[in-house]
Amino acid sequence: ARLRLIRTPNIGPVSWQQLMLRFGSGEAAIEALPAPRLETLFAEDPNRLAAFSVDVAGLHFDWSKTHLTAQAVAAFEALAKAQDLAGKREALFAGEIINTTEGRAVTHVAERGEGSVDDVAQARVLHARMRALIDAIEGEALGPIRHVLHVGIGGSALGPDLLIDALGREDSRYDVAIVSNIDGAALEEVFKKFDPTATLLVIASKTFTTKETLTNAESVLQWMGEGGVDDVYGRVVALTADPDKAVEWGVDETRVLPFAESVGGRYSLWSSIGFPAALALGWDNFQDMLDGAGEMDRHFRQTSLSQNAPALAAFADLYYTQVRHAETRATFAYDERLRLLPSYLQQLEMESNGKGVTIDGKPLGRPSAAITWGGVGTDAQHAVFQLLHQGTHLVPVEFVAVIEPGDTLAEEHHRQLLLNAFAQGAALMKGRPNDDLARSYSGDRPSSTILLEVLDARTLGALIAFYEQRVFVNGVLLGINPFDQFGVELGKEMAKAADAGGQEFDVSTTDLIKRAFG
Ligand code: F6P
Repeated sequence: ARLRLIRTPNIGPVSWQQLMLRFGSGEAAIEALPAPRLETLFAEDPNRLAAFSVDVAGLHFDWSKTHLTAQAVAAFEALAKAQDLAGKREALFAGEIINTTEGRAVTHVAERGEGSVDDVAQARVLHARMRALIDAIEGEALGPIRHVLHVGIGGSALGPDLLIDALGREDSRYDVAIVSNIDGAALEEVFKKFDPTATLLVIASKTFTTKETLTNAESVLQWMGEGGVDDVYGRVVALTADPDKAVEWGVDETRVLPFAESVGGRYSLWSSIGFPAALALGWDNFQDMLDGAGEMDRHFRQTSLSQNAPALAAFADLYYTQVRHAETRATFAYDERLRLLPSYLQQLEMESNGKGVTIDGKPLGRPSAAITWGGVGTDAQHAVFQLLHQGTHLVPVEFVAVIEPGDTLAEEHHRQLLLNAFAQGAALMKGRPNDDLARSYSGDRPSSTILLEVLDARTLGALIAFYEQRVFVNGVLLGINPFDQFGVELGKEMAKAADAGGQEFDVSTTDLIKRAFG
């Protein structure tokens, strides 16, 4: 990593209240963004680009087009000190119980070799089991497999889907379909394409209780049976933190790939949940992805906060959500291979930090994480960028692009793609005043850019780990536990109760149920 010094005023630890006084009270409206404008920040500091960019693990990060200043960074560093970010970061890597609301450690970092000795050793044993099963499948121990049908939802689907879509376009060794929705239309589409006698069913569920996943799995078994497979259970692999449940369900224990309970669902692609990706991309690629993530972890752990990519990103997030009251943040992938990144980030960020309560069980009393949304460039430019350039909402924008193209068409495609990403950032910042307000651009709208040299397993691993650690910093500074998700339980319980007929609903819901089922 290139290290650069930002000269910062020396301030002691501060609370959120003191920090807010320092910044003054913020307003969401673009017009109320404080002077100096972004362009002035550049004009005043010839070192700005260097001070607000970081290079690590083949990724270049540029926050210079945000309103972060040396003073703001210093203030957030002081808050980080008050919230003991350094201590909590060490506790994460040491495998201590930091998910206190669920009484668990948080060990996804151990999957990439960066946790406690015991946790890393356990992860390696479980990875070895994964690898052995991949070898067996390649050796046709389960018969000739050409198709892999992975059923899982949320964290048990989004990670493998992203990895395979990003890296498996050219040389995926199997056709992989990842089905999450309980809507039968999703499975039926796959049934039309896959040969049941050459299909492996992979059931991914941390809890092995998720209704969508188990319903889909049963339908796949039925389709296989009807399609001429005698021993349907002989073609099933389970990825879970509750192996007993998988065995009880009927999966042979030699094909149950466990992972640790302390690996959270949305942080689980590094564990056996990554199995379809490791199968499709090959073990070496999977290992490269773990190594790239490990490199980002070491950067996060060892680099001072003013040059620390996850920390600087989180400082910018917090500046806009807490000081300027931005309610959303948008990530645009200027690379077709990363088109699933925004939906992956939605679960990672919103399920982690979308909470109105602190880790001590008190009301948060301030905005939680921003709503994460986004899309793919250049498509998004012709759909949602109008609002970003001229709307009244403040939306910090993040561009993610890759220097080396992922296609073999004329260079012109990729050149135009990248130039569009860069031009959008410049236009958001610069704007163009006009007496005719309809044609006037206020400018001064913040954006950041993540530029990958190449998109491969290693850089993708580093990119995802960056986002995870950014979520961690946001959580620690807000005082939120990013590792539980009680907010999703109520809806699940009510759907279950409705299924069992034991739920009294309100008038509107009762009417909807009656209309649908009579
Ligand atoms: O509903 C939320 C959730 O619990 C996610 O956190 C998780 O990734 C998803 O459901 C799937 O859960 P499981 O892996 O246990 O099937």
